[in-house]
Amino acid sequence: MANRRRQVSESKGRTIAMLLTFGLIFVGVVVFVIRPTVGTPSQAGADPVTNKGKVLYDAYCAACHGANGEAGVVPNSPALNADGEMWHRSDEELLAQMRHGGENMPAMAADFTDEQVTALLTYIKGWWTPKQRAVQIGDIGE
Ligand code: HEC
Repeated sequence: MANRRRQVSESKGRTIAMLLTFGLIFVGVVVFVIRPTVGTPSQAGADPVTNKGKVLYDAYCAACHGANGEAGVVPNSPALNADGEMWHRSDEELLAQMRHGGENMPAMAADFTDEQVTALLTYIKGWWTPKQRAVQIGDIGE
């Protein structure tokens, strides 16, 4: 009798464990499916231009300017995100820096197509505040 009770409670435990496992799998699948639509605005990954920019940024810029443009990786590499001063400069100046480099920055985007530098700049500007984007001079598409 005691044995039978143990069996019942064991199988109950197993059912609960199974439900929990399926529950976790379900939650995992839901999170995986909605993942591209959450995250920080404009970095969300739904936009192909931003995605292209991210791929380029990660490959060519992140080593010095930080994975999220926060700087501090290589000395003297300024922040490119909202904490930096980049939004004080026009697109032409920023593109010139990317294409020709500067004092301590190689000409990283020298061979990039217009489409590539536009994607890169769009991605970086996704880090700025809406206000910074609004007041920046020479915005892309103007
Ligand atoms: C080897 C390190 C290094 C890499 C790689 C690099 N940068 Fe820089 N970047 C710097 C440094 C250092 C500066 C500061 C100015 C200078 O020395 O030219 C700078 C400055 C800048 C500026 C000017 C920021 C401002 O406040 O006006 C921009 C824009 C910029 N980088 C964008 C990029 C982009 C986009 C990439 C990738 C295509 C990139 N950088 C790759 C080191 C780097």
